[in-house]
Order: sequence, then structure tokens, then C-alpha cells
Amino acid sequence: MGGRRGRRLPAEPIVMDIERLSHEGRGIAHHDNRTAFVQGALPGEQAHVQVRRRRRRQDEGDALSIARPAADRVTPPCPHVGVCGGCSLQHMDPGAQVRHKQQTLAEQFAHIGDVSPQTWLPALTGPTAGYRRRARLGVKYVPRKDDRVLVGFRERFSPFVADINSCHVLDDRVSVLLGELAALIRRLSIPHRIAQIEVAAGDTQVGLVFRNLDPLTQSDRETLMAFGQTHDLLMFEQPGNESTVAPLGHSQTYLEYALDDEGLRFRFAPTDFTQVNAAINRKMLPQALDLLEVGPDHRVLDLFCGLGNFTLPLARRAAQVIGVEGAESLVERGRENAQYNQIDNVQFVAADLTQTHPGASWLGGQIDRVLLDPPRSGALEVLPAIAKLGPERIVYVSCGPATLARDAGELVHQHGYTLAAAGIMDMFAHTAHAEAMAVFTRTRR
Ligand SMILES: C[S@@+](CC[C@H](N)C(=O)[O-])C[C@H]1O[C@@H](n2cnc3c(N)ncnc32)[C@H](O)[C@@H]1O
Repeated sequence: MGGRRGRRLPAEPIVMDIERLSHEGRGIAHHDNRTAFVQGALPGEQAHVQVRRRRRRQDEGDALSIARPAADRVTPPCPHVGVCGGCSLQHMDPGAQVRHKQQTLAEQFAHIGDVSPQTWLPALTGPTAGYRRRARLGVKYVPRKDDRVLVGFRERFSPFVADINSCHVLDDRVSVLLGELAALIRRLSIPHRIAQIEVAAGDTQVGLVFRNLDPLTQSDRETLMAFGQTHDLLMFEQPGNESTVAPLGHSQTYLEYALDDEGLRFRFAPTDFTQVNAAINRKMLPQALDLLEVGPDHRVLDLFCGLGNFTLPLARRAAQVIGVEGAESLVERGRENAQYNQIDNVQFVAADLTQTHPGASWLGGQIDRVLLDPPRSGALEVLPAIAKLGPERIVYVSCGPATLARDAGELVHQHGYTLAAAGIMDMFAHTAHAEAMAVFTRTRR
């Protein structure tokens, strides 16, 4: 009973002094023998904190007001910042956000991998507003609350969809339509059976995929098509898994983005993986290629290659590139994109890189360079095979700095590589999420 009573949430806000920032961007304070993680508070600040969750010795809450603001504090640019759980660092100056992410990466390298880069790369930064080209928007029909539909991201501290009518970080072409999208779904015959809208924006066109849990009527389809025409959007329905995505009122299956400096154009389906932030993507590609020091005689392995985002630029510089990817649909897209760009020195292979592949052709012969761009879970399982190939340079592009740090430890301490340089890429400004790039070097044995 005592323990349970101890976990009752305090009714009144508690005054706390914020000591530092957690890796996920929350202020850390200590009070009453407890550690508190405070959303919306910065180091050095004194905050009035409403505790929203309580565990044994740990509290989570938000800062209701700040008595002593830090120098890095700014007015959040988004009006929905207190409600929407989408961004957590909008109250921090963008430059300070970047420094925090770099500091986090340095700590993760030290604590998880016991490594430290010889050189720090300057952080790659881009626009801090309207950058988000991919998003999954939650949809919620609330019949009792004035019979409305909400479209947006989850609320902070709750599973509900936040009541927002714009999103500061979402591609402007979609942000301005959030209210109209909610009204559109309300007009359908099944507003309670639309689970989400997947946003996929290309350079010139935007695709919206409506995940309908029940079949749409002909009238629903016409309503969606008319909205698409009015707002110049490519509308899709998705009645089942990804293979069921179908265009509504048009015959276009693909969107497009270009890498103008490389003279390349990529086609992608609205549910394909593409990099969220086009401006950062355009900066990270040349950086990765420079760090890899690819020469015209080199054979290059591009692991977790997706639809060929790195594979095709690499192919412009190397003798041959082999792209390996787990999703068959992306392997197919890679091949289509190679053809679309008239590139013939690439090969795309489907393989699960968490498994070993003894005797696989793509692991045979001389490999001079390796580029890795794994999901957040990292690339631990494939590192022994890479080390055996012994490339002089490995460039690791990471969306999970903690797993990058773990894998860096493995490459350095188990396989004799040097962590020559690393830096962050601010792919998701205003959130605590950081991406990173690292280059590993080894003299060929
Ligand atoms: C961060 S994305 C990078 C894609 C690509 N390099 C790009 O820039 O667009 C990671 C990729 O790894 C693929 N992937 C995830 N798990 C995998 C696995 N176990 N084996 C192979 N590929 C995997 C995903 O399908 C995705 O395409």
C-alpha cells in the first residue's frame, strides 16, 4: 500500500532546478530522493513541474512555467508545442539543439563503444521548418467531442491524436492542409475506420495514402479524388498491407526526387523508404562520398541500400557497386532507378543482413569500400563479414547513434579499424532525434 500511495501523482507543481539535458532532450532534476525528467526545461533553469507519471524513484512531467530561463531558451515556433508530442526541443535555440546532439553522440561513443573519433566533422544542418517529407499522421474520429475528426501526431503523455491545424516541421504543402484533411475524413462514410494517413512528398508532387480498415464506397473515392484534384495531391487508398496501396483517380504509382549535383532522379512508391529531410540528404551524400574516397577502379558494397540513394551516386565514381537490401520491393526499385538513370555498373541483391550468408556472391572478390546505412537497430551482425573483406574505408550512416556507438566499438576493438571522423546530421530539427555519419579506416592487410 505504502509503495502505491508513494506513486500517487502530486496535485500541485513542484519547483525543480534543472541540472542537465537527457539524451532524449528532457531536463533532468533531483527532488525528494527522486530523479525527474522534465519536458520543456533546460539546464540551469528553475521550473515549476507538473508530474504526469511516477515510477519507483523516477518522475516524468512537464514544465508549466520557468522561473529562471536559460540563455538557450527561445519562444517555440509552433503554437501546438504544449499539446503535440511530435517535437521535444522547440524551446531550445536550434544551434544549441545541434550542440546537444553532438554532445550526446560523443557520450554514446565513450560510454557504449569506448571510442572517440580522431576528428569531429562539422554538423550537417538544414532548414528547421517544413523539412519533413515523410510522416505518418494519426487519425481519430471523436463522435462525442462535437463529432469531429482529428489528424496529427500523438499528444504528449497520451495515446490520443493532438488537436492541431498545422505542423511547423512538416512539408508546408501538407501542413497547411491538416484541418481540411480532418474535415475531408469526416465527410467519408467510414470516418472511424481511417487509421492513418501516410505522407510521402517528392520534389514536385505529394502523395497521401489513406489506410482504410473497411472498404471505401464509390462516393468516398470520389470525395477523395476531388480533394486530390483541388489540392494537386496524389491520393492513394490502402485497404490492407503495403501491397494493396492503389492510386485514386490517377495512374501514377511513383513520386520523384532529384539529386541535381549528381544528375540523378529517383522514383519511389509512397510507402517506400526515402530520407525524410531532402536538404540534409543532398548534403550528406557528397560528404559520404568524399569520406569514402572512392576511386574509378574500386568495387564498392552499399549495405542497407534501399532504393539506391547512395548506390547510384557511388556508381558514378566507382568501377562497380553492389547494393544489398532486405526489402524485395526496394531492391526492385533500385534496379528500376539504375535503369531510369542509365547506370549499368550496379547490381542490387536482396538479403537479410542480420543473417550470415556464407558463399554469397556479393561477399566474394575484392571489396575496396563499404557504405552502411542500417535501420536504428544497427549493423552488428554484418560487421564480421565486412571486416573479413577488409576494405580500407567504411562510411557508416546512422539513424541510431547508440547502435552506431556500439558498432564503432566492435569495428575498433574487434576488427582493427580506426574511427577517423564522425559528426551529426540534424535530419530532424526540433526533435531530440539525431542522425550521424562516421568513417572508419584500416590499412589493407
Ligand atoms: C536507413 S534506411 C537506408 C536506405 C538507403 N540507404 C537510403 O539512403 O535511402 C535502412 C534500410 O535498411 C533496410 N533494412 C532493414 N532491415 C534490414 C535487414 N535486416 N537486412 C537488409 N536490409 C534491411 C530497410 O529496408 C531500409 O531500406
